[in-house]
Amino acid sequence: MPDIFKTPQDLRIYAAKLAAQNKTLGFVPTMGALHEGHLTLAQKALSQCDECIVSIFVNPKQFAPHEDFDRYPRTLEKDAELLKSIGVHAIFAPEVETMYPANFQTTVSVGEISKPLEGEFRPHFFAGVATVVARLLLLVGAQKAFFGEKDYQQLQVVKHMTSDLAIPTEIIGVPIIREDSGLALSSRNAYLSQEERAIANQLNKILISMANDIKSGLPIATIEEKAQQKLLSIGFDKVDYCTIRDAQTLVPPDKNTQHLRVLAAAWLGQTRLIDNMEG
Ligand code: PAJ
Repeated sequence: MPDIFKTPQDLRIYAAKLAAQNKTLGFVPTMGALHEGHLTLAQKALSQCDECIVSIFVNPKQFAPHEDFDRYPRTLEKDAELLKSIGVHAIFAPEVETMYPANFQTTVSVGEISKPLEGEFRPHFFAGVATVVARLLLLVGAQKAFFGEKDYQQLQVVKHMTSDLAIPTEIIGVPIIREDSGLALSSRNAYLSQEERAIANQLNKILISMANDIKSGLPIATIEEKAQQKLLSIGFDKVDYCTIRDAQTLVPPDKNTQHLRVLAAAWLGQTRLIDNMEG
């Protein structure tokens, strides 16, 4: 079994041991309920570093009061088995009181990059993410940390934050892992009924058709409008956004834009799904 650490002190002892052996550490922050997407990040870490540590912490600060913090799946034993099967060395699974001791007062707020898209529909989300990721990166002290492009805006926010705050961990992005249907793996897919899953499987196909429409030269507004209508017509209950953005800044593209990203967030009942791809 991987070692399971609960406290910053455990992490300090582990870091000292690695330093004494001249070993590098790769870090994968997660909220648990692990699937192949998370495991791919850990495998990437194992391929680039001597040891890998995965954190499992359902971070209350990134959930709004009406969101799914209480029902978010918690499966620590199964997660530890999965991590063992791929050779992960250590797990950091702190309690809420360890991550946010009494009288914790600091919030990390990242600027422009965190405002559109997820930031618009989940206004406290990125402050919660940036605060916990900054604290985790500083506690773990890894050379590299691995984040999925599944949460594309989160990856950009974390890159900005570590650069701005001079946090000495290199941030590595990893492509999205999908089911054969194209559905991006997500811990929240566990909420979907069979009928909802059939609809969810269409989300990536619609993003692919948007990317194809870009190549055909259709106007962006037309592509976005068509895709939003399609999502609603196949059974999504609500579309937060389904849009084409500058891949770096996430604002609507202009003449200076070099790379495009197609991004969507849409609801099936109580479940919110996100996906994205190159445009
Ligand atoms: P969580 O949703 O558990 O995701 C942990 C990491 O796994 C993130 O970097 C996410 O982008 C990546 N991931 C999830 N599904 C993936 C997929 N299908 N393919 C590739 N990577 C995937 O993201 C969070 O947790 C939290 O916000 C966290 C960063 C841990 C801060 O609390």
